[in-house]
Amino acid sequence: NGTINLPELCLVALIGASSSGKTTLAHRLFRPGEVLSSDAFRLLVAGDENALDASNDAFDSLYHVARKRLARGLLTVIDATNVQPDARRRIVELAKEFDVLPVALVLDLPEELLLARHRARPDRPFAARVVSQQMGSLRRSLRKLQAEGFRQMTVLNSEDQVAAAQVTRMP
Ligand code: CTP
Repeated sequence: NGTINLPELCLVALIGASSSGKTTLAHRLFRPGEVLSSDAFRLLVAGDENALDASNDAFDSLYHVARKRLARGLLTVIDATNVQPDARRRIVELAKEFDVLPVALVLDLPEELLLARHRARPDRPFAARVVSQQMGSLRRSLRKLQAEGFRQMTVLNSEDQVAAAQVTRMP
C-alpha cells in the first residue's frame, strides 16, 4: 500500500539517476534538515550545484554533517544518485559506525520518463547520455543492494508508486 516503515533512527540512501525525482520525494517524505543533498552541498562549497569538480569537498561536508546528526540520534537521508557501489559502501560504513539501520530507497523509473524530464530542465546542463549511464549503473546495482548491507529496501518503479509512497516511523 506504499507505506515504508522506518525505525525512528536510521540512515536512508536515496538511489536513482538524475531526474528520477529524489529531491522532490525526499522533501515530501522527510522533515526539513533530515535530507542532505549532494547538490545543496556543492552549492554551499562551490556556489554551483553542478560543480562536479567540487564533489569531494561537497561529500566531505555532507558526511561531516551526517555524522553530527547520527551522533545526536537523528534520522538522516543522503540525497545523491548513489548508483555507484563506492558511494553506497560509504553509506553502509557510516550506518555501521553509528549502529543504525541502512535503508535503500530506490527510484527505478522508466528511462524515457527521466530523459523527458532531463530535456525540460534548465538546471541540468549535462548530456542526456549521463542519465542513461546512471540508469545502467542503477539496474546493475539492484540485485546487489542486499549483499552490500542494505537490510531494508524499497524500490519504486512508477510515478504512481512514487506518488503513493508514505513513511511511518517506529520508535
Ligand atoms: N519532477 C517531475 N515530477 C515528479 C518529480 C520530479 O516532473 N514527480 C521533475 C522536477 O520538477 C525536476 C526534475 O523532475 O525538474 C527532477 O526532479 P528532482 O526531484 O530534482 O530529481 P533528482 O533525482 O533529485 O535529480 P538530480 O539528481 O539531478 O538532482
